[in-house]
Amino acid sequence: MPTVVITGANRGLGLEFARQYQAEGWKVFACCRKPDAAEELQKLEVSVCPLDLVDPGAIEAFARSIHQEPVDLLINNAGVNDVSKSEGFSGIEEDRWMDAFKVNVMAPVLLTIALIENLAASKNPVASVIGSQQGCLETYEGGGYYLYRTTKAAAHAAAVILATDLKERKIPYVCLRPGHTKTDMGGEDAPYEIEDSVRLMREVFANSTMDHTGKFVDRSGALIPWSLNQDLNE
Ligand SMILES: NC(=O)c1ccc[n+]([C@@H]2O[C@H](COP(=O)([O-])OP(=O)(O)OC[C@H]3O[C@@H](n4cnc5c(N)ncnc54)[C@H](OP(=O)(O)O)[C@@H]3O)[C@@H](O)[C@H]2O)c1
Repeated sequence: MPTVVITGANRGLGLEFARQYQAEGWKVFACCRKPDAAEELQKLEVSVCPLDLVDPGAIEAFARSIHQEPVDLLINNAGVNDVSKSEGFSGIEEDRWMDAFKVNVMAPVLLTIALIENLAASKNPVASVIGSQQGCLETYEGGGYYLYRTTKAAAHAAAVILATDLKERKIPYVCLRPGHTKTDMGGEDAPYEIEDSVRLMREVFANSTMDHTGKFVDRSGALIPWSLNQDLNE
């Protein structure tokens, strides 16, 4: 039975990842900030683990809690975005922006490093971070949305560096673009249904090899340029 670790598993894409992997018989470590409030997650047969990603001590504590467990798939899914109206200079909040750097940029790196021996213990490990077209500089038509755009751009950069450092351990690290999906973050007008996005992303993970490491990958499995500047609504 393969094992997956998912961050931000209490809602959105993370919850659906937990649901689908559990349905397929995987052992799921579903991480979230407030396990007691994660009602939908608690209904699944998964291990619900406390993990607030702004707290580096919590990352270490989680890694210790799963001991020597081999991890076949790590999905650094949790993410923070801007407040809803952040055009121009509006919506800039220093503390929130700093926390977003911790969650979107630093935590995926720190958690992957903390789980490196668990990943190395798997026969076919895959580690990943959920990227975004908003991390691609070519898409920056119009200003604003500083928090999300800067942190996703930095998350992409961190993915390339981390993938390089993981090569000698033969652990692929992929940055996956889900496409614009109906979640709290994506909004109800997003073109893609959550079940479909997650099903497609699971296929991408299943086919990920060292050929994909350090690459930006579309939900269809296609390698896409880091400067992606098309399909702005996705
Ligand atoms: N939906 C889209 O269209 C889309 C497109 C491109 C990329 N993405 C990326 O996909 C990922 C999932 O997005 P989503 O649409 O599912 O977003 P979402 O519905 O807003 O869910 C975000 C998740 O991140 C968690 N999170 C936030 N801060 C955290 C922290 N400090 N510690 C631990 N968990 C924290 C949230 O937990 P709480 O409930 O505790 O806040 C929640 O579980 C994100 O990385 C996002 O940037 C989404």
